[in-house]
Amino acid sequence: MTGTPLADGQLPPFENDYHPAWLPTAAFAPVGCRRLALAAEDPHDDAVLRTLAAELAEACATHGGAVVAPHDDPDLLLRLATGRLDGYRVVRRHGRVVVTAATPTALLHGWFHVVRTGEAAFSAPDGSPAEDTDERHAPSSDLRMLDHWDNVDVHPVMGQVERGYAGGSIFYDDGVVRADLSRVTAYARLLAAIGIDRVCLNNVNVHAREARLLTADLPDVARLAAALRPYGVRAHLAVSFAAPMTLGGPATSDPLDPDVRAWWRDAADRVWSAVPDFGGFVVKADSEGQLGPFAYGRDHADGANLLAEAVAPHGGLVHWRAFVYDHTQDWRDRSTDRARAAHDHFAPLDGRFAPNVIVQVKHGPLDFQTREAVSPVLAAMPRTRLALELQVTQEYTGQQQHVCYLGPWWSEILRFRPWGEAPGPDGGAPVTVADAASGRGPGGLGGGFAAVSNVGDDRFWTGHPLAQANLYAYGRLTWDPELDATAVLDEWISLTFPACSPRLRAALHAIMDDSWRTYERYTAPLGVGFMVSPLRAHYGPDVDGYEYSKWGTYHFADRDGVGVDRTRATGTGYTGQYPAPWRDVYESLGTCPDELLLFFHHVPYSHVLHSGSTVIQHIYDTHFAGVEEVEAMAARWEEVVDEVPDGVAARVRERLAEQRRSAVEWRDQVNTYFFRKSGVPDARGRTIY
Ligand code: GCU
Repeated sequence: MTGTPLADGQLPPFENDYHPAWLPTAAFAPVGCRRLALAAEDPHDDAVLRTLAAELAEACATHGGAVVAPHDDPDLLLRLATGRLDGYRVVRRHGRVVVTAATPTALLHGWFHVVRTGEAAFSAPDGSPAEDTDERHAPSSDLRMLDHWDNVDVHPVMGQVERGYAGGSIFYDDGVVRADLSRVTAYARLLAAIGIDRVCLNNVNVHAREARLLTADLPDVARLAAALRPYGVRAHLAVSFAAPMTLGGPATSDPLDPDVRAWWRDAADRVWSAVPDFGGFVVKADSEGQLGPFAYGRDHADGANLLAEAVAPHGGLVHWRAFVYDHTQDWRDRSTDRARAAHDHFAPLDGRFAPNVIVQVKHGPLDFQTREAVSPVLAAMPRTRLALELQVTQEYTGQQQHVCYLGPWWSEILRFRPWGEAPGPDGGAPVTVADAASGRGPGGLGGGFAAVSNVGDDRFWTGHPLAQANLYAYGRLTWDPELDATAVLDEWISLTFPACSPRLRAALHAIMDDSWRTYERYTAPLGVGFMVSPLRAHYGPDVDGYEYSKWGTYHFADRDGVGVDRTRATGTGYTGQYPAPWRDVYESLGTCPDELLLFFHHVPYSHVLHSGSTVIQHIYDTHFAGVEEVEAMAARWEEVVDEVPDGVAARVRERLAEQRRSAVEWRDQVNTYFFRKSGVPDARGRTIY
């Protein structure tokens, strides 16, 4: 990296000591060898247009093409038009491509669309001009955000990045905002290429040092926003509900107190005067020890609306998280069910949130597990803007030591139909989670998508080089939830491994396509969740690690059976939070899907699954199979290492070895645990300890 900050309009350095991810120079060859033009009134007036001009010039300089005038018959014309147009339009006539958009950022997304399409944007495989087309590409929702759980100070327990598995932070270094933010601009470039245009700069757990980003350290926030701006990415901040008290304001944070309201209005005014295109605030309140409105006998609508009022004059947003539950539960108490908490707290508030509040809901009712039911909150608040929150960082899915391509999991969530096959509004197609988050659900309000980033200052950005595919897929699938996750992975392969041989492509698919299910096979069975090690920060197995804890994440295994009874008939009643048909599908053992069985029911080990296997035999079989699959992945990688750059080859090899070690540990601990509890031997007589 260079030591000097980037001047306005200057691109991040293209040759770096960090990996280019899905934008290697070679990915620009098909466009860069052609004649390119940019048509906009005055491209120098806007940071993003200046970037686009620089992108075109750089691609041509590298690959032998030329930037020409718009009327000079370019092969690719990028045109900024006036009028209403969501996303961008791509028209191709006789092999010449015109991309039109109404905003510079949308035009930038259109540019990366052409880059992604590669040679096929212009010509057919036989070299003749590609077929004429006229396509419109609009994102499902105009809100697609990444949340960084980065701390400014290195936190004594959580480190520089909470749940970060890719080194330090690209924003902060041990207490300060980095002097050189060129890598932040390079990050924004990667994000623009997948359509992400909002980033929250700091951890939702806002500690004392990070709270100051809102006040004393605003100049640093402005620097970070300036580093993101060339690629059309807007900055948001996570703020503490306690901020008035901790940052020298009134001695209370009561949302209805006039002095508190005035304090937040002033704070917002100062933020927007420092960063005019600032996006808004993200808030974790009354959650895992963070202060919130409950301290004053108020509710979450009171709390969120306080901030909404402060940011509204600036067009700002408040992302208010619904991750609220009792984290000091008594494990002896069988009536409290953590899964119920978000719905219990938030559903009654539907209709009370200000229009610029987005209630951000984790995809499942617990906490980003490998498998969970979809949160019933997503179907319970038609008069509220809801955002779906995903976790790209692999907290519970192998911590970027294990290959775990999450695209298929997110596809399932995005396509899930909370109201089953019931027709959507106006008798249209059944509504999906993605529809609801995009404003096409019953109430017509949407809050878009948010996800916890998996990026750090690691050379490969994501620790495990193959974990880059998760970040890529998050952008692409939230832009268009109808995309097929395997096809998205294929796009990522084509860009990341230019000139990829069919052999390498096939190996990457074999290793990655089904890797989420492989991970599921050797970890917690049948949707029961957790069983992770509390001591090693959720990495590796510890079946009873959380069983007698205060966190509300239990599996209730005994000598006879396992699972959590969340039925209305005999359990916590959680199934009743779903609309039909799911409230009944999940309630009944006859219809509950196998993969969620232990999430909804406590059953004997002899219970027979729809698959025909008993629960205990399923546990043994999947755990043996999971390890075999990891061994096959490692063998497959060895067959193609000669085709990938040395650094990537070695890093992936090293992580696959760790994945195998860890998978064996999972297999043996889980199998042994259930064998000892149940006394039921493996029908196939394999080794269990
Ligand atoms: C998980 C995670 C925490 C995080 C929390 C959240 O519980 O382990 O580190 O703070 O989610 O989403 O707020």
